[in-house]
Amino acid sequence: MSANSTRPTVLTRLPAQETPSRRPAVSARARPRADDPLHQERLRRLREAPALPRVVPPPRDTPRPIVKWVGGKTQLLPTLFELLPRTFKAYHETFVGGGAFFFGLTRADELRGHAVYLSDVNKELVSTYSAVRDDVSGVVRALERHQHDRDHYYALRAEDPWSLSATQRAARLLYLNRTGFNGLYRVNRKGEFNVPFGKYENPTICDHANLLAVSKALRQASVEHRSFETVLDRAERGDLVYFDPPYVPVSPTANFVGYAQGGFGEAEQERLAEVFETLARRGVSVMLSNSDTPWVRRRYGAHRVVAVSARRNVNSRASDRGPIGEVVVVAGPR
Ligand SMILES: C[S@@+](CC[C@H](N)C(=O)[O-])C[C@H]1O[C@@H](n2cnc3c(N)ncnc32)[C@H](O)[C@@H]1O
Repeated sequence: MSANSTRPTVLTRLPAQETPSRRPAVSARARPRADDPLHQERLRRLREAPALPRVVPPPRDTPRPIVKWVGGKTQLLPTLFELLPRTFKAYHETFVGGGAFFFGLTRADELRGHAVYLSDVNKELVSTYSAVRDDVSGVVRALERHQHDRDHYYALRAEDPWSLSATQRAARLLYLNRTGFNGLYRVNRKGEFNVPFGKYENPTICDHANLLAVSKALRQASVEHRSFETVLDRAERGDLVYFDPPYVPVSPTANFVGYAQGGFGEAEQERLAEVFETLARRGVSVMLSNSDTPWVRRRYGAHRVVAVSARRNVNSRASDRGPIGEVVVVAGPR
């Protein structure tokens, strides 16, 4: 575990891709500690970074997510940065998915010297991160052999990923993710990836520079296949835990029973809320994203609930992709 480090007052640049027009709306409650100089400095960087000329030193635009992932948090980074605690020791992210927050924190140099623990229950995704970390040149070589071609896509999709080497398996997942429909990850009951070929003209299948940057970032991290509760075995007072679970359904008619995505229903949401509270009582700084629903507001009502709205790519029909209400719940030392 790293020593309790206070981030420097001269802060490095925030992730460069957020432009003011794309920033999610943040409620007044998302602007804490108005008189805190560090907080003011973060806000200043957030306002000024996009306006800075892209000259020396260039804004670091890597590492960034290597997979498109439903629920990716890139758009919410400004809000998440505003809500960071002043200091923290180890960083834990237990629903890592595409890892937008982890990579954003890395780009902003917020994780230097901190122990980092990433995990997810998607075994293939975790295995992909391990392969990119441990054999990035092998993954790049394997990826470069995959062409953007419908027949090739279906042939590769039909292969059993667990019959391949870790490197080939990672290249397969990355290729299917870049070229499959909407970048979805979906498996059938037998666990077979069943997303159809996508409609991309000229997808970037291998972003070599980003893969190298991601490999380097992951060398600082432990990446494990495990469920979120196991964070209780590891997180200590002063650490930071970020939870980004599959969301509670938003539509007024939807209920938990019909919500099977990732097998994350009401029981899991309830368990997560208990884990959140245990960590907060332990003195861990906790941040959690979820949808803005009465259930979430009620269940986390004892904590600070910050409303944000974001354009989410959950619906395959562009016309149905409206802004949905989301919240970030924060607790513990700030
Ligand atoms: C909303 S996504 C996370 C998105 C991520 N923050 C990003 O920026 O791409 C939720 C993730 O939770 C994972 N998941 C579902 N159930 C889980 C569990 N019980 N424990 C850990 N991860 C789980 C899914 O595999 C998925 O990757």
